[in-house]
Amino acid sequence: PQRAASVRAIAEQLAGIRGPLLPILHEVVAAHGYVHDDDVVVVADVLNLSRADVHGAVTFYHDFRRTPPPAHRVALCRGEACQARGAETVHAVAADRWSGSADVEVGEVFCLGLCAVGPAGTVDGTLHAGLTPQRLDAATSGWSP
Ligand code: FES
Repeated sequence: PQRAASVRAIAEQLAGIRGPLLPILHEVVAAHGYVHDDDVVVVADVLNLSRADVHGAVTFYHDFRRTPPPAHRVALCRGEACQARGAETVHAVAADRWSGSADVEVGEVFCLGLCAVGPAGTVDGTLHAGLTPQRLDAATSGWSP
């Protein structure tokens, strides 16, 4: 359907460049959030590769999601400066609150350049400094539990 047509268009557009497979997969993730198994079939067809080749690339590089992205993302800095300012507590609270949640993904980053005002992190892509469990609550208050 629509997704397959879009993935095919992406693949055909980039098929002529050198080493097109990874750029195509990046574009598919940018456009659709993740690489579905059906996308692998389409990309393999356009590039005249085996499905195993395309699948191998998707699974080898961890930056290609294979499932739909969650509705929300929290990324907390685990860098040393933020750790010294209490990042572990914030991380523990976040991990506890959203462990097993399909809607919220808790990830980590290493230094956002806000070391002096950490703990730092992003909430749905927005930078936050001076994070505490309370401030994380406030930043995510509209989310379903
Ligand atoms: Fe966290 Fe630099 S170590 S922002």
